[in-house]
Amino acid sequence: TRPLLIAPSILAADFAKLGDEVRAIDAAGADWVHVDIMDGHFVPNISFGPDVMKSVRAASKKVFDVHLMISPADPYLEAFAKAGADIITVHVEAGPHLHRSLQAIRALGKKAGVVMNPGTPASSIESVIDMVDLVLVMSVNPGFGGQAFIPSALDKIRAIRAMIGGRPIDLEVDGGVTAANAADVVRAGANVLVAGSAVFKGGQYKENIAAIRNAGAI
Ligand code: DX5
Ligand code: ZN
Repeated sequence: TRPLLIAPSILAADFAKLGDEVRAIDAAGADWVHVDIMDGHFVPNISFGPDVMKSVRAASKKVFDVHLMISPADPYLEAFAKAGADIITVHVEAGPHLHRSLQAIRALGKKAGVVMNPGTPASSIESVIDMVDLVLVMSVNPGFGGQAFIPSALDKIRAIRAMIGGRPIDLEVDGGVTAANAADVVRAGANVLVAGSAVFKGGQYKENIAAIRNAGAI
């Protein structure tokens, strides 16, 4: 089984001091930095683009896990690769050519991830499972931090864990993850926990990350 990793989402950070926020979560014990890219079209919110991502990349040597909530994604894959992404994850729902998008990410020398919305079944990724390094299960409808975890995500995590079998693929969960549900999420088969509000709340990043990690260490 793969190691448990905590990936704070900088969507919940103070954008006025994004570099400092990334340094702070790095020092507080984050394993990865989860970067949410939103285009106001695929999701009803806008975050930031590759130039901002490139500037904050300099603040940490940790893995930058880039979650693209944009459609189309293909025209921007190279920009995010050049901006310093380590993993680039595209949505099943973002376009008709998921296979091409994943090929393009690997051709750029980056790890490829695939993600599905709560309304999209686990079976939607069967045809591409051998093309990915990471599968991300959304446990909220993407667009905003601070939403409640959707319990049916647990069944989907179990189904995808079975689909992965012995492949060296990380299984990540994003949306409403807290210390209170981390054990359920890990028990269902996830090994990478994204957390935005649960990490940044109250400014106690180290304690918050440790609480999620301890709860998930089952
Ligand atoms: C939602 C984003 C998430 C979000 C998580 O569209 O993909 O990464 O920032 O935030 P919390 O942990 O607050 O649900
Ligand atoms: Zn995300």
